[in-house]
Amino acid sequence: MAAATPIICEVAPRDGFQSIANPLPTEAKIGIIRDLAAAGCPRIELGSFVSPKAVPQMADMAEIVEGTRDLPAELAALVPNLRGAENALKAGLRQIVYVFSVSQAHNLNNVRQTVAQSLTGLDEIVKALPKGTFLRVDLATAFDCPFDGGVPLMDLVEAVKQVAAIAPNAELALCDTTGRANPFDVARRFDTVQMLPETAGNTWAFHGHNTFGQGVANALAAWQSGVRVFDTAAAGLGGCPFAPGATGNTATEDLVFAFNEGGRSTGIDLPRLLDVADRIAALPGGVTGSHLRHVPRGRAA
Ligand code: COA
Ligand code: ZN
Repeated sequence: MAAATPIICEVAPRDGFQSIANPLPTEAKIGIIRDLAAAGCPRIELGSFVSPKAVPQMADMAEIVEGTRDLPAELAALVPNLRGAENALKAGLRQIVYVFSVSQAHNLNNVRQTVAQSLTGLDEIVKALPKGTFLRVDLATAFDCPFDGGVPLMDLVEAVKQVAAIAPNAELALCDTTGRANPFDVARRFDTVQMLPETAGNTWAFHGHNTFGQGVANALAAWQSGVRVFDTAAAGLGGCPFAPGATGNTATEDLVFAFNEGGRSTGIDLPRLLDVADRIAALPGGVTGSHLRHVPRGRAA
C-alpha cells in the first residue's frame, strides 16, 4: 500500500496552456511554472513535445525546460511518439508521459494513430529510454470519448493489460478526458485495473477534468480506491482542443482544499497557489474553472 499522502501533479502548463490558441510569451510560461514550484507543487507537467503544427503553443518546449531545470519539483513532459520522447530526453527531462487514447476515434483524432500503432510506439519508447527514466502512460478517454460516448470497461481493461505487458513498472494514469466520469465509475474502474495480475508492478494516477462538476468527487473516489497521484491545473485552466466540449482540469486549489480539510497534506502552500492561480486566470485567452479562487481570500486559505 502506497503512503497515504496525495501527490499533486500540476498540469496547467501542459493541459491548460495547450487550450490557449495564441502562443504565450515563453518568459511568462517559465515565470508561472517557477511560481507553481515555489508554491510547493511536487510534480509539474511542463508541456508536450508534440508537432508544433498540431499544438503551436508547445513550440518552445526546449526553452521551457532550460528555464526550469533548477527547480526542486519533479518535471515531466507529455509525448505522443518516440520522436517526442527523444526530444524530451535531449532537453534534459527524466520523466516522460506517453499518451494514447483507449478509444480508437479519439486516438485517431488526437495523435493520428490507431490504438495498435500507439502501443507499438510505447514499445519503441520503453526500449529507447535510458535506465532511471520515469515513465508514465496516460490512458486518455479511459471513461468517455468525445466522439463515441461511454468507453466500455472491458476496452479499458484490455488496453491496461496491453500497456502493462509493455511497461510493467510504469505509472498508469486513467484520464477522464471529457470530464464525464462519475465517482462511482472512477472507483469501479480503479478497483478493477488494480486487481489485474498483469498490473502488479504498476502504480496509478488519476487525471480529471471538471466539465460536469465531478472533478473533486472523482479524484476523492480514486483516492479511496488507493490512487495517490492526481493531475490538476491551477485555476482550472483548460479545455482540450482535441476533446470538443471538455472544460479544464479539476482546479488544483479545489482539490488541495479538500485534502487539507481532510487532514491530508499535499505540501502545497494554498495562499501562494491561489496567487499563481490568479495570474494564470489573467492570461489572455485562458478559460478557467476554479471554485476556491472566488471565495473571499481570508476564508479560502
Ligand atoms: N515533435 C515535433 N514534431 C513532430 C513530432 C514530435 N514529437 N512528431 C512528428 N512531428 C512532425 C513531423 O516531423 C512532421 O513535420 P513536417 O510536416 O514539418 O514534416 C509533422 O510533425 C507531422 O508528422 P507525422 O509523423 O506525419 O505526424 P502526423 O501528422 O500524423 O501527426 C502527431 C502525429 C502525433 C505528431 C501529431 O498529431 C501531434 O503532435 N499531436 C499532438 C496532440 C496533442 O498534443 N494532444 C493533446 C495532448 S492529449
Ligand atoms: Zn486532460
